[in-house]
Amino acid sequence: MTLRLPPVCKNFPVLLHGGDYNPDQWLGTPDILKEDLRLMKLSHTNTLSLGIFAWASLEPEEGRFEFGWLDKVIDDLYRNGQRVILATPSGAKPNWMAAKYPEIRRVKANGERELQLGRHNHCFSSPVYRDKVMIMNTKLAERYGKHPALIMWHISNEYNGECHCNYCLAAFREFLKNKYKTLEALNKSWWAHFWSHTFTDWNQIEAIDTTVHGLAIDWMRFVTHQTTDFMKHEAVALRKLTPHIPITINMMGTFPGLNYPAMAPHVDVISWDSYPGWGDHEDEVESAVNTAFVHDLNRSMKDKPFILMESTPSVTNWHPVSRLKQPNMHRTASLQAVAHGADSVLYFQWRKSRGSSEKFHGAVVDHAGHEHTRVFKDVSTLGADLEKLSDKIPGTITPAEVGIIYDWENRWAIESSYGPRNRDKNYQETVTQHYEAFWHRNIPCDVFDSTHDFSKYKMIVAPMLYMLRPGVAERLKDFVQRGGTLISTYLTGTADSTDLVYLGGLPGGGLMDVFGVWAEEVDPLSDKTGQHIIIGSGNDMGLSGTYNCRHYAEVVHLKGALPLAKFGSDFYAGSPALTVNQYGKGKAYYIASRNEQAFTQAFIDALIKQHNLRPAIKATLPKGVSAAYRTDGVQDIVFVMNFMPVEQSFSLDSEQYTDALTGKSVAGALTVPSRGTVVLLRPHQ
Ligand code: GAL
Repeated sequence: MTLRLPPVCKNFPVLLHGGDYNPDQWLGTPDILKEDLRLMKLSHTNTLSLGIFAWASLEPEEGRFEFGWLDKVIDDLYRNGQRVILATPSGAKPNWMAAKYPEIRRVKANGERELQLGRHNHCFSSPVYRDKVMIMNTKLAERYGKHPALIMWHISNEYNGECHCNYCLAAFREFLKNKYKTLEALNKSWWAHFWSHTFTDWNQIEAIDTTVHGLAIDWMRFVTHQTTDFMKHEAVALRKLTPHIPITINMMGTFPGLNYPAMAPHVDVISWDSYPGWGDHEDEVESAVNTAFVHDLNRSMKDKPFILMESTPSVTNWHPVSRLKQPNMHRTASLQAVAHGADSVLYFQWRKSRGSSEKFHGAVVDHAGHEHTRVFKDVSTLGADLEKLSDKIPGTITPAEVGIIYDWENRWAIESSYGPRNRDKNYQETVTQHYEAFWHRNIPCDVFDSTHDFSKYKMIVAPMLYMLRPGVAERLKDFVQRGGTLISTYLTGTADSTDLVYLGGLPGGGLMDVFGVWAEEVDPLSDKTGQHIIIGSGNDMGLSGTYNCRHYAEVVHLKGALPLAKFGSDFYAGSPALTVNQYGKGKAYYIASRNEQAFTQAFIDALIKQHNLRPAIKATLPKGVSAAYRTDGVQDIVFVMNFMPVEQSFSLDSEQYTDALTGKSVAGALTVPSRGTVVLLRPHQ
């Protein structure tokens, strides 16, 4: 059975290689633009993202449009064998527009209008900006919609931020009216009688009061809603005039300001910009885990391949310190994205700008201007390899038996809440630490928010699921009842979707039955007072030992669950620290404290064994070597990535592997160079 999905760009079904190209910065030096074409061929670049910040060049003054230069660039690229991802330029508004129409500039929370600076700072509600965007996007779609070079629309750039102007506040009130219908319902949901915050008129909703958590969270939801509304407005002309061209927006990983899974249904392709701190540590494992997590999150948003829209071929100039990539690291960082579901390796940026704030950002072509640089060679070697893999990878899938919940709204709720502790809440870190335990065993995981379908997974891991969004408790219940395994932790099931704490004992929302525990109190451990858990031997998971915990420990009572570990000290010594409950055909584990990673690894290892979870490769890999795979249902493509600064070898599990790049069969010992990657093929397992 073929498991291959259609490629992200149906009219260009290859692995995309290339990136952001800003010819508008070089229009005065045609020789450089000509040289770019030669260098693009040399580097095996096949795709360029154009026009992202080109509004001032496309419309130098109101109503005067200049498309001639872009026509030439696109024609030249196409003749040279490249394809184009064309952006709408709304990410940076031109000076003339900001001066003539101040309403397009954002208003801060204190009511002050921003100056025309930087970028990514336009109001999402301004009728003038929406009109201007509509005119521009219509012209772009009319002019380039049928150009054979066009393979995708890149709407705006990295949407982010918020505006508090009167248009935005009016839209916020409308959003709330639609949601709550009456002020009475709103006051109740926000617990607004607290500190006399009762609203008696919709127009009183002005300041985003962070002490009223329901309001603060609804504001975050509104920011996503209004950004999505603006994005849909940007897409109107594109959808109408070019229905055959897919649309994407470049997301920013786990950027807190936008609930990306809520935006995902409105785009055709998920893409994201990845800038890990490679080289921050002696080995690259920490960056590798964090980056793999976000790749998996992006893939899981639509359960299909995504686009790595930006990554740096060299350094990232906005990191506090960004080291040069060590030999092989560029290749491994790029192939890691592909291994986890990217159908592209795209960079920011093709050519380094001469001035302004990105002049020291890594680029394929450095200020030296020629191909004789280390970075250019790395890029072209990788480009040649991507070409060889191009018929095998686009559209292949990643089969995962484990789903890990990372939920933006839950994050907002945890982060905005005062207590139960205020330092080291570490929601994302905690989810990633659970993910890491699977990563070390090469178990493929999907990463998604709590609205995702749980039914196809053997296991759902939902750390710190403090906020239960509508229907989530019921779906988790159903998942366990039907035989799934649920793993969760302290804080889970504390509050509903407007951050009202459940009455009648926690975990609430009906989850007390599922976990078979009542969590009576949370002890936010201080740095000075430790706590530890003790696992007695004799449990069917084969766990034992003593592990330290910090930050959170809950005083838990059994309500049907069996204890697997107990706390070692304090007045609640001996009370359950880890429990398991049989519920329907499945099991629910409750981890009552934040434990050291050695515990998480041992616990996940036991679960992997019990559930017979399938790793990407059956061999035992050395520390810091990770494997991920994709398949079309007939052939598996296995990426073996060494994130350590030394060459490492191990024995392969079967003799059926071939090297995907050389076509030679590979058996017995496999050696992976320091920070290197080997790509293998095997019959689908
Ligand atoms: C991204 C942005 C690019 C460029 C890049 C530099 O966030 O989309 O335009 O600024 O960062 O790393």
